[in-house]
Amino acid sequence: MLSSHYGADAAISSAQPINTRISVSDNELPRPDRTIALVGLMGAGKSTIGRRLAARLDVAFVDADSEIEEAAGCTIPEIFERHGEAEFRDGERRVIARLLRGKPKVLATGGGAFMHEETRNRIKARAISIWLRADLNLLMSRVSRRDNRPLLKQGDPRKTMERLINERYPVYATADIVIDSNEGPHDAIVDRIIETLRTREET
Ligand code: S3P
Repeated sequence: MLSSHYGADAAISSAQPINTRISVSDNELPRPDRTIALVGLMGAGKSTIGRRLAARLDVAFVDADSEIEEAAGCTIPEIFERHGEAEFRDGERRVIARLLRGKPKVLATGGGAFMHEETRNRIKARAISIWLRADLNLLMSRVSRRDNRPLLKQGDPRKTMERLINERYPVYATADIVIDSNEGPHDAIVDRIIETLRTREET
């Protein structure tokens, strides 16, 4: 019963300016004609890296989780609590469908989004998908800083994360591009993404 706001067109705010180290000159930057959808587990860095990537490419950054919260008028933990996971997944499906219709942008998707067949097919048809792959220790160190992930609130979060790695990594692996999110600072990961996008444009 979450409202139809999920599917409604809404203004998308542009990326906030961020100081990024520029190591690829402007005329070498890729000009993606499709949205870049970041996929991967909670804690992989989709939002942080996505924001920086969007600033570098001079396109809008949109976080699907934030858009879902805005459409629902409450936080993701509240959606899970009040309406259950199935309802959240349906809202997620509609929000991502709407976001993929707009102008090319960088889109950070929630960790479960690419597991939904319809959403995955839509991302494959309309976007360039990038899996930010990270290992268990890194994911755990990142997610332990915040208490906003309902899936990790029950039982042993490390075991849950391990199970999600086993279930999801084979599916994330079907993304167009795979980038290791473990090594080095965020800007180095952004550089690697830009380099990979550039190589794809050239071929
Ligand atoms: C989820 C990941 C979360 C959020 C929700 C469910 C998942 O997003 O969508 O808590 O199923 O992995 P992040 O990956 O951005 O944390």
